[in-house]
Amino acid sequence: MDFFADTAEVSELRQLAGLGLLDGVTTNPSLIAKSGRKMAEVIAEICAITSGPVSAEVVSTATEAVVAEGKALAAIAPNVVVKVPLTEDGLAACRAFVASGIKVNVTLCFSLVQAIVAAKSGASYISPFVGRLDDINLDGMRLIRDIREAYDVQRYTTKILAASMRSANHMGEAAKAGADAVTAPAAVLRGLTRHPLTDAGLAKFMSDWTAAQR
Ligand code: G3P
Repeated sequence: MDFFADTAEVSELRQLAGLGLLDGVTTNPSLIAKSGRKMAEVIAEICAITSGPVSAEVVSTATEAVVAEGKALAAIAPNVVVKVPLTEDGLAACRAFVASGIKVNVTLCFSLVQAIVAAKSGASYISPFVGRLDDINLDGMRLIRDIREAYDVQRYTTKILAASMRSANHMGEAAKAGADAVTAPAAVLRGLTRHPLTDAGLAKFMSDWTAAQR
């Protein structure tokens, strides 16, 4: 399972790359806006940090505009994956991108049938939002399991990119559910190695060792 960072903060991405925890990056309009930087500038800088897939999301909504915007984003670097919303216009644009050899991440997926139409449109990635389903008391991880089952039965090759991951627990559950990749904020990725019993156990080993040296 690939680990993607869901952030547009380049300092966070450099740290994660140094730790070997960066297989790719996802961004969205909210994250780019939060960075306070221009979309093209920040995507170019991110693509220089990782050679893995970097999702850059369009902010247009009508097919022709999405296609024009996505082509400009794809021209920034060879590892850019154009991210489009799961709408009729988004999927029409997806088919146009696929015909031009541009990889697409279809985002804002909240149901199995949405994931199926995205696969039929040739998406390289489908992004089901686990945390936002949990937020409204639905079972986000159940959606990952359902998509995995349907894609395997139908032999769709679209990769399942579990998004809106809010915790280390989410990441473990996504791995069991068969996600091909997960995307999470840097803080969640940095938390994957942590366990209070690891910290307590290490402290005890160190104090026992130090005491024995006296
Ligand atoms: O980037 C898409 C997704 O990961 C957003 O997550 O936490 O804003 O629901 P969140």
